[in-house]
Amino acid sequence: MKYIFIVLIAVFIGCKENETPKKEAVKEVIKPVVISTWNHGIAANNVAWKILSSGGSALDAVEQGVRTAEANPDVQTVGLGGFPDREGKVTLDACIMDYNNNCGSVAFLQHIKHPISVARKVMEKTPHIMLVGEGALQFALEQGFEKENLLTEKTKQDYEAWLLKSDYKPVINIENHDTISMLALDEEGNLSGACTTSGAAWKMHGRVGDSPIIGAGLFLDNEVGAAAATGMGEAMIKTAGSAMVVELMRHGKSPEEACKEVVERIYKIYKGYPDLEWLQVGFIALNKNGEYGSYCLRPGFNYAIQTNTINNELVDANFKIK
Ligand code: GLY
Repeated sequence: MKYIFIVLIAVFIGCKENETPKKEAVKEVIKPVVISTWNHGIAANNVAWKILSSGGSALDAVEQGVRTAEANPDVQTVGLGGFPDREGKVTLDACIMDYNNNCGSVAFLQHIKHPISVARKVMEKTPHIMLVGEGALQFALEQGFEKENLLTEKTKQDYEAWLLKSDYKPVINIENHDTISMLALDEEGNLSGACTTSGAAWKMHGRVGDSPIIGAGLFLDNEVGAAAATGMGEAMIKTAGSAMVVELMRHGKSPEEACKEVVERIYKIYKGYPDLEWLQVGFIALNKNGEYGSYCLRPGFNYAIQTNTINNELVDANFKIK
């Protein structure tokens, strides 16, 4: 009897081994795709899409795309015309990352309108990843970038109005801090990302936020997906926000689910503290299949999305609290 039982088990295991393994459903990859933060994402996507739709690289698309916001004096949270720090100085942060995990970054850079292009040069022309302050400026000038006054008349007036009270309290979704972050997937199936900002308005001189910090403001893994952030940079640094979103996608979460989980971690950290009153954070994410998503802490954050079937639409992100 015992012998028959063992034989039956062996036959059962044998059958199991011979079963044809179930095939994983192969997902159709949507490409190219470009997604970027806030209203200024529309103009940025238009430029990026021209590159992507003609077979260009995601890296070129994200660099050229975010340059539109850097050059636009009406976008007061990025590049030219960006809100200055408490001393009236416009200081810029930016980073860029490609599908080979190459990255470049500049922080606390003054007088240069296109920090994203300086960041790309750091990536491509130096053995380093990050240059800051005077060193970043020196490098930019050596690379042929021009020194400019970035404080426009309008922004100067806003600064002078702020000086009357000098009260440091960010205004949600206005100066808090509408970084342009952009992620793209090109025809080749490669991802890249870029992030550029003038940072928190009226920040302390020398303050650097998440935008030039690889892993906080931007991260990607070409096998998994990409993520980028906007909002109060300190919160993204505390949680390694963008890197976490990518890791959560690696473990099976959809882009929106991954963004949501990190926003919830941030909420938990800030709950019960006065900073929560004016905290806004938002993430965008794009996975290897071209699926995208977003999530933010409170209403007001939107993103622009362009694919072959979506014509550069603005979408309001889902949020955690009112
Ligand atoms: N997210 C931009 C900043 O906090 O500087």
